Amino acid sequence: MATLSSTLTLYFSFALLYFSLVSASFSPLDHYLINCGSPVRTTVDFDHRRFIGDAATTFLASTEAISLTDANPSPRSSPIYHTARVFTRPSKYKFVLKNPGAHLVRLHFRRLSGSLDFSNAKFHVLANGFVLFNSLSMEMGQDFEIVKDYVIRVDSDILVITFVPTEKSKFAFVNAIEVISAPTDLIADVAQYVNFEKNEQIHGLLKNGFETMYRVNVGGWKVTPFNDSLWRTWIPDDEYLKSNDGSSKVYFSGRINYQDGGASREVGPDNVYNSARVIRSSGNSIPELNMTWTFPVTEGYKYLVRMHFCDIASVARGMLFFNVYVNNNLAYENLDLTSVTNGLLASPFYADFVVDGDSSGVLALSVGPSNTSLPCAVDAILNGVEIMKINNSVGSFDGEICAHAILKSWKMENGNVLYPTLAASFLLLIAFVIIHQRRTGVTDSVAWWRLPTEIPEVNLKYGNQLSSNKL
Ligand SMILES: *[C@@H]1O[C@H](CO)[C@@H](O)[C@H](O)[C@H]1NC(C)=O
Ligand SMILES: *[C@@H]1O[C@H](CO)[C@@H](O)[C@H](O)[C@H]1NC(C)=O
Ligand SMILES: *[C@@H]1O[C@H](CO)[C@@H](O)[C@H](O)[C@H]1NC(C)=O
Ligand SMILES: *[C@@H]1O[C@H](CO)[C@@H](O)[C@H](O)[C@H]1NC(C)=O
Repeated sequence: MATLSSTLTLYFSFALLYFSLVSASFSPLDHYLINCGSPVRTTVDFDHRRFIGDAATTFLASTEAISLTDANPSPRSSPIYHTARVFTRPSKYKFVLKNPGAHLVRLHFRRLSGSLDFSNAKFHVLANGFVLFNSLSMEMGQDFEIVKDYVIRVDSDILVITFVPTEKSKFAFVNAIEVISAPTDLIADVAQYVNFEKNEQIHGLLKNGFETMYRVNVGGWKVTPFNDSLWRTWIPDDEYLKSNDGSSKVYFSGRINYQDGGASREVGPDNVYNSARVIRSSGNSIPELNMTWTFPVTEGYKYLVRMHFCDIASVARGMLFFNVYVNNNLAYENLDLTSVTNGLLASPFYADFVVDGDSSGVLALSVGPSNTSLPCAVDAILNGVEIMKINNSVGSFDGEICAHAILKSWKMENGNVLYPTLAASFLLLIAFVIIHQRRTGVTDSVAWWRLPTEIPEVNLKYGNQLSSNKL
C-alpha cells in the first residue's frame, strides 16, 4: 500500500511537473489576426485560425478606407483572401502591444476578382520606422497569394502599420494582417559573420528587423501553418538544390528530442526536423561531393542564414562529422552533431550565419564530408534552411528611401487634402464597395494551439549559437 501511494505521489508530482512545464512554454502575449475589409466578426482560415474582421475593431485608424468583398472568390483560396481593405491615401492599423520587443508581422495579399483594376495597386508599407516594402505591385493576371513575413523589433507599446499608395492615381490594399509576439529564443543577438576573409562572431542582431525570403524544409514536404507552432510555412527544397546526384532523402518517424537550451519547437517544428537530405558513404570510400543549395538574393543587403540540423540518419552517436560552407567559405569545420546535442540523436540544432548579398546575386549553402568523416556512415546532413533579409541602414528591406521620406513625399505631392478628387471618383467607380466606419472596441480570444511539449533536460553545454572556438 505504501509503495502504491508513493508511486502515485511520484506519478502526480511527475504529472504536475509536466503540466507546469507545458504551461511555462511559450504562448504569445500579443496575438492579433485581422481579416481586413471583412464585415463579419470572425473568419476561420484553412489552418483553423480565427481572424477577426477589422470593421468591428479599433485597429484600423483611418476612416476613409474602403472594404472590398470578392464577388466571385476562388474556392481554392483561404477565406481571408475573399475580402480586402483598400486605401487611396496613407492609412494606418494600430496595434497596442502588451509586451514590446520582437514581433512576427505577416501581411497577406491577393487580388480580388471584380471590377477593381489591381494593376493600379502600387504602394509602400511601413511599420514603426521600417520600410517593409517599397512599391509592391500586383502583376496583371497574378492569381496567387503573396505573404510577406517579418520579425520586427518594436520598442514602444504600439505597432503602427502604414499603407501608402505610391501616387494619387494608385491604391494600397491588404487582405489580412498577423501580429504575434515572437518567442524570445527565436532570434539571438549573436551569429557568425562569414565571408571570404572572415569568420567571426558578431553581436547586435536584435536591433534589426528581418524579412523571411526562404523557409525551406530540406528533403521533406510543405509544412503549413497548422503544423508550425508559429504558423509559418516551410516549402520543399527541390527547386533550390543544385543537383541531387549522390545525396538522398531521409525521413524519420520517431520522436524529435527537443532539449532545453537547444532549438525549440518554435525555432523549428517536428515536420522540419524529421526529414533531411544526407550524403552517405557506401562502403569504405567517403564520397567526394557536397550538397549545395542556391538562393537568389539582392546585393547590398545582409542576410541571416539559419541552417537546421538534426541527426535522424546515423545508426549511432558520434559517427557524423561534416563541413558547412556559406558562399563557398568554410563556415563550420567538422560539425559534430552528437557533441552539440549532448550526445542525443534526433535532437535539433541550428546555426546562424550572417552573409552579405553580393554581386553574384546568389547565396550558396553547402554541406559535405570533412576530413574527420567516417566510412560506412552518414557524412553530411541538412534538415532545413531559413534565409532572412536584414534591413539596411535606413531601416528598409526594399531600397534606400526611409519611412520618413516616403510619408513626407506623399504630403508634398498630395497635400493633406482629406478627400482628393481622384480618390472620390475612384470610390464611385467601384459599385460593390461598402464604407465601414463603425468603431466598436471588441477583443478576440484566439485558441492557442500547441503540440505537446517535451520535458526539457537541463544543463546542456550548448546554447543557440555556434561558438567561435569551434572554428
Ligand atoms: C500535419 O502534419 C501531419 C504529420 O506530418 C500530417 O499528417 C498532416 O497532414 C499535416 N496537416 C496539415 C494540415 O498540413
Ligand atoms: C565542397 O565545397 C567547398 C566549398 O566550395 C570546396 O572547397 C570543396 O572542395 C568542395 N568539395 C568537393 C568534394 O567538391
Ligand atoms: C582538413 O581539411 C582542411 C581543409 O578543409 C585542411 O586545411 C586540413 O589540413 C585538413 N586536415 C587534415 C588533418 O588533413
Ligand atoms: C536596421 O534598422 C535598425 C533600426 O532602424 C538599425 O538600428 C539597424 O542598424 C539597421 N540594420 C542595418 C544592418 O543597417
